[in-house]
Amino acid sequence: MTRPDATRPHPAAVPPGVSSSSMPRPFRRLRLALSLSSLGQWLCVPALTAMAAVLARDEDVTPELSGVVLDEPGVQAAGLVLVALLLPPVLLAPVGAALAARLDRRAVLLAADALRAALVVSVPLVSMTVWTVAVAFLVGCLPLLWTPAARSALLAALPGGPDGPDGSGAPTQPNAARGNGAAVPVVDGPKAVGRVLFVPAAFAAVLFALIAVIAGAGFGADDQVDAALYVTAVVFLLSAAATAAQGELRGSEVAAVPAPLTLFFRGPGTGAGRGLGLAAGGAALTVAAVVAVARVHTGTLGGGNAGYGAVLACLAVGLGFGLFLGPRVLGPFSRRRLLGLAVIAAGLALIVASLVQNLPVAAFTTAFVGLAAGAAWSAASASVRGGGEAAGSGRPLAYLRSVALIIALAAVAAAPPFAALLGTRRLAGSYHFAGTGAALLIAGLLALLAGLVAFRRLDDRRGIPLGLDLAAALRGEVYTPPRPAAVPEQPVRRNRGVFIAFEGGEGAGKTTQARLAAIWLRDHGYDVVTTHEPGATKIGMRLRAMLLDRDTTGLSDRAETLLYAADRADHVANVVGPAMERGAIVVSDRYVDSSLAYQGYGRGQRVGDIARLNAWATGGLVPDLTVLLEVPPETGLRRLSAPADRIESEPAEFHERVRAGFRALAEADPGRYLILDASRPQGELSREIQYRIREILPDPVPVGTEDATSTFPAIKDF
Ligand code: TYD
Repeated sequence: MTRPDATRPHPAAVPPGVSSSSMPRPFRRLRLALSLSSLGQWLCVPALTAMAAVLARDEDVTPELSGVVLDEPGVQAAGLVLVALLLPPVLLAPVGAALAARLDRRAVLLAADALRAALVVSVPLVSMTVWTVAVAFLVGCLPLLWTPAARSALLAALPGGPDGPDGSGAPTQPNAARGNGAAVPVVDGPKAVGRVLFVPAAFAAVLFALIAVIAGAGFGADDQVDAALYVTAVVFLLSAAATAAQGELRGSEVAAVPAPLTLFFRGPGTGAGRGLGLAAGGAALTVAAVVAVARVHTGTLGGGNAGYGAVLACLAVGLGFGLFLGPRVLGPFSRRRLLGLAVIAAGLALIVASLVQNLPVAAFTTAFVGLAAGAAWSAASASVRGGGEAAGSGRPLAYLRSVALIIALAAVAAAPPFAALLGTRRLAGSYHFAGTGAALLIAGLLALLAGLVAFRRLDDRRGIPLGLDLAAALRGEVYTPPRPAAVPEQPVRRNRGVFIAFEGGEGAGKTTQARLAAIWLRDHGYDVVTTHEPGATKIGMRLRAMLLDRDTTGLSDRAETLLYAADRADHVANVVGPAMERGAIVVSDRYVDSSLAYQGYGRGQRVGDIARLNAWATGGLVPDLTVLLEVPPETGLRRLSAPADRIESEPAEFHERVRAGFRALAEADPGRYLILDASRPQGELSREIQYRIREILPDPVPVGTEDATSTFPAIKDF
């Protein structure tokens, strides 16, 4: 009962049985070199923030009252370092990619490592807050060159060969087609790049905590931070050495990078896109708020650099698990529902973490913040990858990344001054509430709000109880609600023929697919009647004119529902019913589900009432198969050539609700529906439809009979 798209493996996934150790050596060596560099970059985050906090600390306000006085200069300086690290990708990303495209990959990788090593070493030698912040800015700039160069070198070294023509890194052909038949593993390019870029984050946090513990034995916080910076420089040098040992590096094309600010301010252009952006922003806010104040907040809880490292490690490990587990644990669960829920969970976890006064518990709770934020991110990117371009045309994932980046920058810029402004308050007895805790609390509340709004906007299973839906997903199933109460009471008509309905939003291509299916059936000798709603009968045509004319104003929702039902009653009585009686196959472009989706979900009327009304109008005639062609409304509406009619002119949100309605109906009765992504090529869709129709056709006439009559061919071409 799982959704058809939920279990399909990624076409470029590493085939089972191919371990990463069976990858070719040059690829593994390059991956190691790049991972080391990435580890160095991530180590810079705690090392530079901690250094700035140490340098800026006013000795007089060092935590003394059992660690409850807020280290204001520390929190501000740490915040500045984070702003300096994030500003370059927000402001200069396109410039970096354009420059990297012109430079030699190997030279860029080597120079970026060497420069970062030198910069990082200079920090303890100069020992000034301003210089630490300046180094953070420069260290933030270098990945703008390094990352595109690393991505391009890694994709070019992929065992599956250079990346596809779109520069995505997805191999274009399966291995078998690659000639010699040797088992060369095919690797998902973007995933391999993602691993190199982000997995080292967790190692960096753990390493920082370890350095702090080891260097902390007998030394002060300054020595721990110095040690962390020296280790960081060594990691960069090791990476440079490993890169130098690579010899020549091939480079696939460097893709242009859109400007995050432009994408952010241009917006996604659709309601669903805004919902996704809100969710991605909420998730980013929770993570960035933790990073922004963690250094000083752990101090107010009596922890030092090791505690800081532990909190970051919990966050990073949680994130990793969330990214990996989120979509797997709740496979059949709606990704959009998962997204909203995950952001709500991240907000709640952050609220709890902000109130906790015990460092280990706070660190543990932070892991949940990471877990939920990671699950949210994977659900958001899966929604834009798999569910059409809900975040607007063009580069939906790039839009979500921009939102996450800019919200993270805003969070690290705003949280520290806010925390410093509030200082530390004694609330009750010995309960001190530090400004950093207040900053986390506000961020948690904002994320919670973003999650709630995103959940409402994105919910594609409206009307289906969340608890039951979740419980079914945990069992690996899609929850199927019982049919509306009164429907079974209607006598269900049994006919000799077969009834197939095509449903979907505007511009989904139903009419074309219904026609193609009818042609195919006729070719196979069936008696086929093609029809449509509204307006297939004389009366129906008059009703259609009333319903779709834009001059019809003020028509109430109930009247509209009744008019569609009247058209349908006439349609069944005069067209569909008689055809079914004589044993024909009826192919209808729209039927009852259109009323449930448009007048029910779209207009916000009770779906059960509309189902009952229509069951009465049709005498309980239910299609044997309903083909649902799924298309994002903005794409479908763009496909229409004629001027928009009264229904098509409804706002985007209406069409989003209709789409979600269709989907909910189909998911509630998977046996009777075929859900198809209408953006796929027409030929493929037709084939899937034919394949499914075969299952419900009356038994093919035995081949012998066919030979005898030669009028009614059996269907053979499976
Ligand atoms: P039509 O021109 O047939 O468009 P399409 O090619 O999209 O089917 O117009 C039918 C319109 O009526 C369409 O916008 C959907 C709407 N409609 C309802 O709102 N309720 C219904 O029950 C039916 C059958 C159609």
